[in-house]
Amino acid sequence: MRPILLNPGPVSLSEGVRNAVARVDLCHREPEYFELQDAVIRGLLNVYQTDPAQWAAVLVGGSGTSALEAMMASLLPSDAHVLVLENGVYGERLSKIAAIHGIRNQALKADWGDAIDLQAMADLLATGDFTHVAAVHHETTTGRLNPVDDIAGLCTKYKVQLLLDAVSSFAAESIPFEDESLLAVAATANKCLHGIPGLAMVLCRHAALKQDIKPRSLSLHLPLWAEHQARQSTPFTPPVNGLLGLARALLELERQGGWKSRRSRYRKLAARVAETCRNLGIEEWLPATHSSCVLRSYHLPAGLTYNQLHDGLKQHGFIIYAGQGDLAAKLFRISTMGEISDYDMARLEQALKMVTTGAEN
Ligand SMILES: Cc1ncc(COP(=O)(O)O)c(C=O)c1O
Repeated sequence: MRPILLNPGPVSLSEGVRNAVARVDLCHREPEYFELQDAVIRGLLNVYQTDPAQWAAVLVGGSGTSALEAMMASLLPSDAHVLVLENGVYGERLSKIAAIHGIRNQALKADWGDAIDLQAMADLLATGDFTHVAAVHHETTTGRLNPVDDIAGLCTKYKVQLLLDAVSSFAAESIPFEDESLLAVAATANKCLHGIPGLAMVLCRHAALKQDIKPRSLSLHLPLWAEHQARQSTPFTPPVNGLLGLARALLELERQGGWKSRRSRYRKLAARVAETCRNLGIEEWLPATHSSCVLRSYHLPAGLTYNQLHDGLKQHGFIIYAGQGDLAAKLFRISTMGEISDYDMARLEQALKMVTTGAEN
């Protein structure tokens, strides 16, 4: 039996996506490929019904980090000063990307898992010293969902532009595309969109692509990808099979009722896992009200190391995820993205019981 992936991407695929990925051999310089590319771009803009007159969806080969790096390196002008909101690994990654590309930046830090201090953010923006804010929507380090509406609201108030890492939230959580401060959103195919790894994307305002910015990278320069994609071309070999998979995944998302239905499904699954854990005496790391619908973190059960828990669940066909950094010894994470059936959930409940109570020893 195939393992069920409860790590935060890549996800367990539907049969439809799995078949689509290998459906056909496609040359990326043929019209059939460009029809596919156009369909994927249209489908991505359609997820949040973003207005194509205002927004572009730019496909980039690479992982989620490629999308982040493309967004930061391509869209921030040389005189930008970025306030980076950090409360986990991925906020810290945004600062690293800025530093590598020589982009002036300052971090507003909270401990991993803690909330960003919005008053401190407002005070910093009120100095008038910043041009942009870079933030992580769902901080996958702990499962915390950062309050993107409030963050965007402050950006609008202080007239700065927002770059959003939505790598682990795009297609499952609300994103304020209508807020004028939101300039760009980075995402990936292999998380809430239910595609395969290797294909990343940035949704950004057309105006962002028209800025006069000296390229900081060749292969991650968004205006280059966008300009080619607008005229049915591609600058480099794209992850063709990733596009085949994503086209199918976008169709399935639409048929299933769109991102709000996906959020409801994820919420239901996450609540079910949390209830099972609670009944086994395993506490949640964050209150449910602060967690995304995508992933929740749990304290490691007394008397079990992460490796014991992981290996025990793997024997039952489930892959869970460790905490990162210092949290590795304290928590474990369960994501319920991807193709997970109610039957899988029932099996997971049994497996958690057996592994944590030692019933199988
Ligand atoms: C919020 C967030 N940003 C960025 C990334 C990096 O994505 P990748 O590992 O695909 O480069 C991840 C990966 O889990 C993530 O969860």
